[in-house]
Amino acid sequence: MARPKIALIGAGQIGGTLAHLAAIKELGDITVFDIAEGTPQGKALDIAQSGPSEGFDAVMKGTNTYADIAGADVCIVTAGVPRKPGMSRDDLLGINLKVMKSVGEGIKQHAPDAFVICITNPLDAMVWALREFSGLPHHKVVGMAGVLDSARFRHFLSVEFEVSMRDVTAFVLGGHGDTMVPLTRYSTVGGVPLPDLVQMGWTTQEKLDAIVQRTRDGGAEIVGLLKTGSAFYAPATSAIEMAEAYLKDQKRLLPCAAYVDGALGLNGMYVGVPTVIGAGGVERVVNITLNKDEQAMFDKSVDAVKGLVEACKAIDPSLA
Ligand code: APR
Repeated sequence: MARPKIALIGAGQIGGTLAHLAAIKELGDITVFDIAEGTPQGKALDIAQSGPSEGFDAVMKGTNTYADIAGADVCIVTAGVPRKPGMSRDDLLGINLKVMKSVGEGIKQHAPDAFVICITNPLDAMVWALREFSGLPHHKVVGMAGVLDSARFRHFLSVEFEVSMRDVTAFVLGGHGDTMVPLTRYSTVGGVPLPDLVQMGWTTQEKLDAIVQRTRDGGAEIVGLLKTGSAFYAPATSAIEMAEAYLKDQKRLLPCAAYVDGALGLNGMYVGVPTVIGAGGVERVVNITLNKDEQAMFDKSVDAVKGLVEACKAIDPSLA
């Protein structure tokens, strides 16, 4: 059977890491597209030359031509600009919206059957715009945010509790921004919810609150350290987890920026929710119950995302 085809739109820091990870995991043949001449070609060649030592079989191609993504099973979009210190993800909106228009049109024309994962920020608004520009079915276009935010939360919790990250589960919902909602009640160590661990004296509420805030600021902390761009290893790994769930029909329960129409009291918008990802794309949105405080935080986050979508419509009236 022919290998699946993975198209990576954007060959920057995340795009290059995605290409390397997808090759090492032998998820398929990889085409890397970018508008910068030479960048995707150079990265593809470099990664192909890591194949003999790593021992993977994958055809790597770099291109500046959209026609080369034809027939892609998965497209992962990182085209656009990352933030610099002092910027919020929302500051990227104007520039990256234009990028989503050209990427959406490219996917619409050449890879309309692909499962599309958007990483470009501000995520919830960009995945919405990408879906609008591409015209693909909503369940085939999804944003990567919750897997990353939950991974950050899990990492911080594992350090606090001195236990393996594998035994820590975490749920982060809402928009991928300052208003994201880490749900402590639905996050566990070995199945024990975090509030119970506070009761058991494993940590204090103050320390847990600080970890929740550090999770919310997780991207900014890395931007502040790197100074020249934003995080790329963990964002790439998170998107690969989603791509693998689709390609291997794993039915993974992953928090993603998905189109929600009906669940959680929402009427047709993209925001971070628990989803089931399998061969059908986003096969289900899990309609979890929130308590009063969680609902208030989620509502605030939803409002922030709605504000960004309105800003997109104001910039590009074709979206209105
Ligand atoms: N079409 C295709 N590629 C584009 C376009 C476009 N219209 N505009 C820019 N690019 C490419 C750039 O040439 C660059 O190679 O997108 C790439 C972005 O790479 P980086 O600047 O290294 O950014 P990266 O760290 O990969 O982040 C990309 O993901 O997490 C988000 O906030 C982040 O929005 C940013 C995106």
